[in-house]
Amino acid sequence: MDNKAIIAFQNVYYAYQGDEEGETIPAVENLSFSIVRGEFVALLGHNGSGKSTVAKLCNGLLTPTGGTVLVDGLNAADENNLFDVRKRVGIVFQNPDNQIIAALIEDDVAFGPENLCIPHPELRERVDGALKAVDMYEYRLAEPHKLSGGQKQRVAIAGILAMENDVIVLDESTAMLDPRGRREVLEAVRKLNRERGITVLFITHFMEEAAQADRVMVMDDGELALDGTPRFVFAQRDILRRAGLELPLPLQLADALRGIFPQMPQDILTNEDCTAAIAALFAQGETQ
Ligand SMILES: Nc1ncnc2c1ncn2[C@@H]1O[C@H](COP(=O)(O)OP(=O)(O)OP(=O)(O)O)[C@@H](O)[C@H]1O
Ligand SMILES: [Mg+2]
Repeated sequence: MDNKAIIAFQNVYYAYQGDEEGETIPAVENLSFSIVRGEFVALLGHNGSGKSTVAKLCNGLLTPTGGTVLVDGLNAADENNLFDVRKRVGIVFQNPDNQIIAALIEDDVAFGPENLCIPHPELRERVDGALKAVDMYEYRLAEPHKLSGGQKQRVAIAGILAMENDVIVLDESTAMLDPRGRREVLEAVRKLNRERGITVLFITHFMEEAAQADRVMVMDDGELALDGTPRFVFAQRDILRRAGLELPLPLQLADALRGIFPQMPQDILTNEDCTAAIAALFAQGETQ
């Protein structure tokens, strides 16, 4: 096993109880992967492919029905480890309105570390530091309902930072946000990853967001269909299609343009790649 793995799934199975007696609904099947400290991993998959189940297995909210989940080497199924596992892995969920519980932003961020019995001068430092890290410090005395969805999600991230978790799992935390809110949240977590080495598991159904990760994992019906760099994963067009996913927009555009301009490069991934390739086509046209 990789000793540096902060999260390791070893042949993990999870099945939910159905409504009928004895009925089980398989959600994750024979899933093995590991995430190393400091990685920024995106997790993609169609509806019901098992992404949220993976998120909840990562911090012991769910216990595998088979196999092992290790968090920093600790077996997440062992109740004695639950406190240490939760201290390492925090989850931000989808709905920004369900995650803030206190009447003031700074009280909300303080809630987690207060429960860890962090004493006062340090508590203040942690809360201020976490709010600054997500650019929400100036809103510390604001009331939650005055914030936008993107701001609320950044406060939820600050709550995890204040607990000094090593890993942040975001379970479609941008899904209910407008494009600006999505950008804010993605930028906030990218900065935390880059500057503080926080490990990020970013579950999303936006391909363009996944394209910005170091690594992309694709789930299909509870199993891992692809795992690699964004360039590698998004080149696997047939597997992505079978997994029920669409290509990122710049790739779709490049594929369409290739029908007219066969010289269009194959390795387009981002908007910038696509713009540069189109500019090169124009430049070629001018010199002909
Ligand atoms: N609480 C539950 N009880 C019963 N079945 C469940 C429960 N939660 C999820 N499932 C089932 O488990 C499978 C995986 O669900 P999961 O929520 O992990 O998928 P997902 O990839 O997060 O989906 P989505 O894109 O809709 O969020 C699905 O078949 C789903 O219907
Ligand atoms: Mg989900």
